[in-house]
Amino acid sequence: EPVHKEINTADWDVDAAEKGGYEHFMLKEIHEQPAAVRDTVSPRIINGMPDLSQDGVDMQKLKDYRQIFIVACGTAMHAGMVGKYVIEKLARKPVIVDIASEFRYRDPIITKDDLMIVISQSGETADTMAVLRLAKEVGAATLAVVNVVGSSIAREADMVIYTHAGPEISVASTKAYMVQISVMYLLAFELAYANGTMELTAQLGQMPDIIRETLELKDTCSFVASKLVNAESLLYIGRGLDYALSMEGSLKLKEISYIHSESYAAGELKHGTISLITEGMPVIAVATQKKLIEKTVSNIREVKARGAMVILICDNSIEVGEGVADYIIRLPQTDEQLMPMAAAAPLQLIAYYTSVLKGNDVDKPRNLAKSVTVE
Ligand code: M6R
Repeated sequence: EPVHKEINTADWDVDAAEKGGYEHFMLKEIHEQPAAVRDTVSPRIINGMPDLSQDGVDMQKLKDYRQIFIVACGTAMHAGMVGKYVIEKLARKPVIVDIASEFRYRDPIITKDDLMIVISQSGETADTMAVLRLAKEVGAATLAVVNVVGSSIAREADMVIYTHAGPEISVASTKAYMVQISVMYLLAFELAYANGTMELTAQLGQMPDIIRETLELKDTCSFVASKLVNAESLLYIGRGLDYALSMEGSLKLKEISYIHSESYAAGELKHGTISLITEGMPVIAVATQKKLIEKTVSNIREVKARGAMVILICDNSIEVGEGVADYIIRLPQTDEQLMPMAAAAPLQLIAYYTSVLKGNDVDKPRNLAKSVTVE
């Protein structure tokens, strides 16, 4: 029986699989982020409007689903967290985000009236794949946000939005995260178009330049890394979108530096975690959301009063009082909804330089694989 195979072409070139003069793939991939975002976003902004119709996404249908689920693993799930905040805030649609390995075994309430969005760089993650199948079994619509063309998840989903990051070789995901959140913004802006997201869409189109500017903070990030390298444990704190981003910052650091770190919603500290703070313990506070800044600063003061060494990441318009932080990383300004895209690279660079200073194998951290195809 002749078998007819569908041919999918990936436009990845050989250079993309080489270090191109960088010491590690991770550093190269961090620097590829402006181009990855441009390639992912620009073709999907048409006449100033987000447009996912070429990906086979029917926006009218998307608006009608009862409930949106976003399910993924690790970094991809953190991108989903950003998606939840922006979709709920701008489009006023309820979004449930979950870890694939939890979602699939908790007898989830998902029906044919729902939309399941799965996010995966590799498109091969076993638990994410299982969730996709589970959603299909109950008749829910499925949309995959995937980087690898023709991967299993991309093939099985009803709709696919490909991210254009090119091959990501370092185990620690960087550029794939950046493009995953770019797609979350495109979805949110298109879903919320009636609520006036044209300016935000224009700003999204400018993000490659903003990200490029943040890469110039690499010396500051390397200096901050020198302050973390001997720590046994540290905390990342933030509120709202800053909390979503902190989760990713913390994962990146622990994954490649092997230093224990946790991300915490800043307002939760006093419900237990603040007891961990001892003299000199590093706390990385992300504070880019204007409405929440006062609250976050008050949490920072609480940890500072207990001896923490505070590294504050905020935009350059925010005024912080004397002595609030030991070190400040100032980000270029953009709309606060888009600040995770401005803050992501500095957090990745902090993790990268900490790992380098520790002499670790940055691109292949111990015990980890790039693609997790087992449960
Ligand atoms: O290929 P996927 O995006 O499905 O992978 C999911 C996670 O395994 C992955 O994001 C992992 O958390 C990264 N190594 C983190 O840097």
